[in-house]
Amino acid sequence: MIPQPPAVRVFPDLDSLSRAAADFVLSVAGGAIASGSRFCMALSGGSTPRTLYTLLASPPWNESLPWRKTHVFWADERCVPPRHRDSNYGFAFETLLSRVPLPGGNIHRIHGEEGPERAARAYEDELRGAFPEDMPRFDLVLLGVGEDGHTASLFPGDAALGETKRLALPVLLDESKHSRVTLTLPVLENARKALFLAAGLTKSRIVREIIEEGNPGALPAGLVRPAQGRLLWMLDQEAASLLRDPFR
Ligand code: 6PG
Repeated sequence: MIPQPPAVRVFPDLDSLSRAAADFVLSVAGGAIASGSRFCMALSGGSTPRTLYTLLASPPWNESLPWRKTHVFWADERCVPPRHRDSNYGFAFETLLSRVPLPGGNIHRIHGEEGPERAARAYEDELRGAFPEDMPRFDLVLLGVGEDGHTASLFPGDAALGETKRLALPVLLDESKHSRVTLTLPVLENARKALFLAAGLTKSRIVREIIEEGNPGALPAGLVRPAQGRLLWMLDQEAASLLRDPFR
């Protein structure tokens, strides 16, 4: 199937964007439970989703989401202990997971503290145990985009972008940064729904390049094109400020 062009929705600010994203998560969760038995989503780190996670832990969303049938995974993780300030698990735990009745067995964190390669292999085992299909099919992957066009921990020009078999890979960055583990493109592209959140003027150039210019540089965030799923970008006005009017 040919991937559909991304749907783009623009909101006045991060708060209204986050509220719409929370409604979208609720809608996807409802659809997943109605057609199956559970709702599987993969979360990202970064600063953009903080408001969304906090909203999901608050009324009305926290009372409506089917937490006992929800399984939480991560799109990527840093190779740090789970309560480290840079841990994506720690961030989600602080803003969301510690505040909702999600059964412990439904949290599938990446054990980054074990080191990139071991943690990647262990996460692949976790994914294979959680999904019956050879290629995990998330109901929702929640993604952000860096100013360089990265998403999850898939960075421009990285060999990981060419991976077609593995589900998760180690990402070795220079000494000043933590190594990481990331889901691979095939997993992200196999999602039923992929939702990108981008906010702020610093994202306006990369958003235009990916959404309006056809991603000429094959930037990772622009490569996530679910062939049998839906792609949605939610932007605030600033991130959308370089897009043509029809999107805004
Ligand atoms: C991470 C994320 C990363 C993030 C982008 C955007 O672990 O940091 O997975 O891909 O989504 O870097 O981050 P901001 O939301 O902070 O702009």
